[in-house]
Amino acid sequence: MRDLFGAELRWFQHIEETARRVFGRHGYGEIRTPILEELEVFKRSVGESSDIVNKEMYEFTDRGGRQVVMRPENTAGVVRAAIQHKLLASNDAVLFYYIGQQFRYERMQAGRYRQFWQIGAESFGVATPESEAESLLMLHSFLTELGLKSLVFSINSVGTPESRPAFHAAFRAFFSEREERFCSDCHRRIESNPLRVLDCKNETCQAALEGHPVITDHLDEASARHHARLKALLTELAIPFEENPRLVRGLDYYTRTAFEVLSSDLGAQSALLGGGRYDGLVKHLGGPEVPAFGWAIGLDRLVMILQQIHGEAPFAPPALLIPLGERAATEALKLARTLWDAGVPLQLETRGGALKKAMASANRMGIQTVLILGDGELDGGTVTVKHMATGEQESWPIGEACSRLRP
Ligand code: HAM
Repeated sequence: MRDLFGAELRWFQHIEETARRVFGRHGYGEIRTPILEELEVFKRSVGESSDIVNKEMYEFTDRGGRQVVMRPENTAGVVRAAIQHKLLASNDAVLFYYIGQQFRYERMQAGRYRQFWQIGAESFGVATPESEAESLLMLHSFLTELGLKSLVFSINSVGTPESRPAFHAAFRAFFSEREERFCSDCHRRIESNPLRVLDCKNETCQAALEGHPVITDHLDEASARHHARLKALLTELAIPFEENPRLVRGLDYYTRTAFEVLSSDLGAQSALLGGGRYDGLVKHLGGPEVPAFGWAIGLDRLVMILQQIHGEAPFAPPALLIPLGERAATEALKLARTLWDAGVPLQLETRGGALKKAMASANRMGIQTVLILGDGELDGGTVTVKHMATGEQESWPIGEACSRLRP
């Protein structure tokens, strides 16, 4: 877990502003749910066989004896909230986005934290491939507006609970023919949730999977049509994608479409985000039968990539107003108030003391424009302006400071 401030936090803020702008124009509204949820919410949705529920949750008993969890993800909480407040009672499409911290007790790795940030979007009430294309298009605009270029959408269909047993049977038969090559975790997975074997990080297991039966060959007819239609739409929209028959995701709630977005902006391809369709989850958590689709992106890793590609986040430092002496200090407060009220970003030097010390601070803070107000300036009704980049100095009438500084 870490503290965020300065240049790194400015990237977080820039990403959040971009998300609000892009999602807002697609008609998504924000939702904020509590960090603590009841344990059952995640057990029943993310799944008891998942690493998240098995190994990674911060769970404890609160003072009232309730078993609670610091949310490891936000989809389950949004579904819980939508059911509780009857937000899905009509037949309308309901579109939500969220920005918030999640908690997983994970092993330390670059860009992986135990408290991390996600931005996610969830759409409820629509089962069509068109709704997925809409959501992926929004995601594509969001990432493109952030300046990410080499993006690949990796997609798969994991079928439905009804069609999956056919795949499980074929896959178990394949597994049993070479079971000695799989790790002990995979032996457990083949019993509890065979799809998880495809997701094993162990290289020996990945090699043993060569030639495995593919889920998309075992889809029911409607799921196969759905998958083909989504691929056609992505082609029409020129969203670059590839099919990945091993993509199953680490959470249990997915049906039909599952996807991740990989970026090669960092050299080696790494998953920036993931999501998919989860048509059974609302009902499973006690709500009406409502289809849903969504995704979440991890901000910590995204910031790391943006820093590598673009360096600092877009940032205009404020001007700095330095008064010299008590009379100027009073007038500087009044001038600063006028500038602030007019929307000018300005920091006021209130420590008193020597000009040299204040200028050194301005340099350290990366300030570009310094205004100096001393007795001489006050008598002449002016302010001295120093442009730090060039070292140039000029004198402005005090009355013009506002119009000259306004962004
Ligand atoms: P997830 O794949 O578990 O999906 O997480 C989504 C993203 O969160 C990951 O791709 C990664 O960028 C980021 N992430 C996960 N764990 C960490 C960590 N320890 N440190 C930093 N970043 C991390 C979900 O959470 C689903 N709720 C996505 C979804 C929404 N599906 C449907 N709707």
